[in-house]
Amino acid sequence: MSKPLEGIKIIDFTHVQAGPACTQLLAWFGADVIKVERPGSGDVTRNQLRDIPDADALYFTMLNSNKKSLTLDTKKPEGKEVLEKLIRESDVLVENFGPGALDRMGFSWERLNELNPKMIVASVKGFSDGHHYDDLKVYENVAQCAGGAASTTGFWDGPPTISAAALGDSNTGMHLAIGILTALLGRDKTGKGQKVAVSMQDSVLNLCRVKLRDQQRLERVGYLEEYPQYPHGEFSDVVPRGGNAGGGGQPGWVLKCKGWETDPNAYIYFTIQGHAWEPICKALGKPEWIDDPAYKTAEARQPHIFEIFKTIEAWLADKTKFEAVDILRKFDIPCAPVLTMKELANDPSLRASGTIVEVPHKKRGSYLTVGSPIKFSDMKPEVTASPLLGEHTDEVLASLGYSQQDIFNLREVKAV
Ligand code: COA
Repeated sequence: MSKPLEGIKIIDFTHVQAGPACTQLLAWFGADVIKVERPGSGDVTRNQLRDIPDADALYFTMLNSNKKSLTLDTKKPEGKEVLEKLIRESDVLVENFGPGALDRMGFSWERLNELNPKMIVASVKGFSDGHHYDDLKVYENVAQCAGGAASTTGFWDGPPTISAAALGDSNTGMHLAIGILTALLGRDKTGKGQKVAVSMQDSVLNLCRVKLRDQQRLERVGYLEEYPQYPHGEFSDVVPRGGNAGGGGQPGWVLKCKGWETDPNAYIYFTIQGHAWEPICKALGKPEWIDDPAYKTAEARQPHIFEIFKTIEAWLADKTKFEAVDILRKFDIPCAPVLTMKELANDPSLRASGTIVEVPHKKRGSYLTVGSPIKFSDMKPEVTASPLLGEHTDEVLASLGYSQQDIFNLREVKAV
């Protein structure tokens, strides 16, 4: 079955996580992704947090599947020449170097556009162009702080907190992928390439949209009724950290289940959806709460919501997180067990859907990775191993018209 992005050639000039997550996604969907890496070392993640000596680290293998690897020193004139040839016949160039690095290499947007006016040039930076911090290099946690996630995550009596989810890295990569696909559709209409830029700060802020909602509500009315601080605590003039409170109109909390004393993940997330109050009372064996004016409405419940959560925890005390969810699901109550990475890795449903996949690798044996979270009716993205450093150098150079002798000469000057 042909894949939708087959025939789209992408120069993958990315490293670490934000850029590679984007190009990996496009490779799953059929694009020919050629990762350009510095000879001898390659993407820094090949060596970071290695668990097997001499084999690419999982950090690299899990973000670079389905790609080719071309080693190329793009600071040497011979390397620049190869890159220029590749640019002339590619559809997209994706990069996430530090600010100004591509310009210093001699490949400014103007130059790239001159070499190939149809090419889409896609970049990730920490901050958007023209921002007062646009000279900063940025990693994940820096972006979470700059994008509003850290100040609104965690508990009110603790420091700003970083999420384990890669809101700054992979999330920005996903935004960039949407931008690239949009620019490709645009090119079909105009015949012209364009520059697509996504900043990590903007991408984090985009996911913190509801917190900007809350800032405006707070400024207007002085309180936020769905936060644990309401109605007994104090609000300042900024959105506080809400602990595990639900972010929408549905109060919720992480609740202890059987075994929580020894198992740090024996918890469920329980949501009190307004219209599900009656089934919740039935599930908990508290039919008297259904019409009690102190419990009947969300407004009435809020002042003593933690007392309600305590009662639910008492009900959960003799149930494991899985048993609890199996009961609550019958009552249509939105909830889930707090799952560990071990439980997710072994989850038969995730294996069956292709969300967790086992990939054979030349040096590592096989490893687990997260496959495409996007499912299609006419395509099942297959995940293939990440390339070894320079595995496809000869193949890519030959496709650009270089002879064996030319390739030998490029190796002699260490340009590949
Ligand atoms: N051949 C020759 N030189 C190469 C090369 C190649 N194939 N690939 C990269 N380089 C050079 C670059 O030209 C640059 O050189 P210069 O600084 O002398 O101009 C150099 O390698 C380093 O690039 P840089 O991206 O600045 O690396 P870094 O390790 O110092 O910084 C980041 C890493 C991630 C902080 C930085 O790239 C960054 O801020 N990126 C944008 C935001 C981002 O994506 N961050 C998240 C990553 S998950």
